[in-house]
Amino acid sequence: MRIAIYPGSFDPVTYGHIDIIERASKICDKLIVGVLMNSSKSPLFSVEERVNMLNEVIQHIDNVEVCSFSGLLVDFAKEMDANIIVRGLRAITDFEYEFQMAHANHILNSEIDTVFLTTNIDYSYLSSSTVKEVAGFGGDISQFVPDVIAKKVYNKYS
Ligand code: COA
Repeated sequence: MRIAIYPGSFDPVTYGHIDIIERASKICDKLIVGVLMNSSKSPLFSVEERVNMLNEVIQHIDNVEVCSFSGLLVDFAKEMDANIIVRGLRAITDFEYEFQMAHANHILNSEIDTVFLTTNIDYSYLSSSTVKEVAGFGGDISQFVPDVIAKKVYNKYS
């Protein structure tokens, strides 16, 4: 069984992430979306909220599971029996960071390889920070996130 992990902060999940999840789910038997409890970022949403939001927007995909994790990604992958890490590349600027991370993870566990999917061109400009910044100023985020997520983001700023 080919098990892959798509890790990230997902604070909040955007259409760009959903695009990667939909496409990655087609190239593996099971996709685990790993939500990082990241102490180096100050998230708008708690890890439980981020897991719940992801669960709401991936209901249409059968072979996807959402879990939170802390610590090293390679340890989480091993725990989940996964040997593929999926990451999205939005632009060339993502490449250097992703390249370093993929090599470091492979050195930490040589059984784990990283697969990159190019983010849909429609979302190549998008990040969770953009969503939060626009929402924080009362702007329209309907093109960035599903309605159910947009409501929760606006609620945080109301
Ligand atoms: N569509 C939209 N936005 C996207 C995107 C896509 N397809 N892909 C990435 N992004 C955005 C995210 O929204 C996020 O935006 P933000 O910075 O405004 O929040 C940004 O790109 C960073 O992406 P994300 O996937 O959340 O990465 P991250 O840098 O927060 O976390 C981990 C990356 C989880 C893979 C990494 O930190 C990790 O593995 N941590 C565990 C510890 C570890 O093992 N460290 C050693 C690694 S060598």
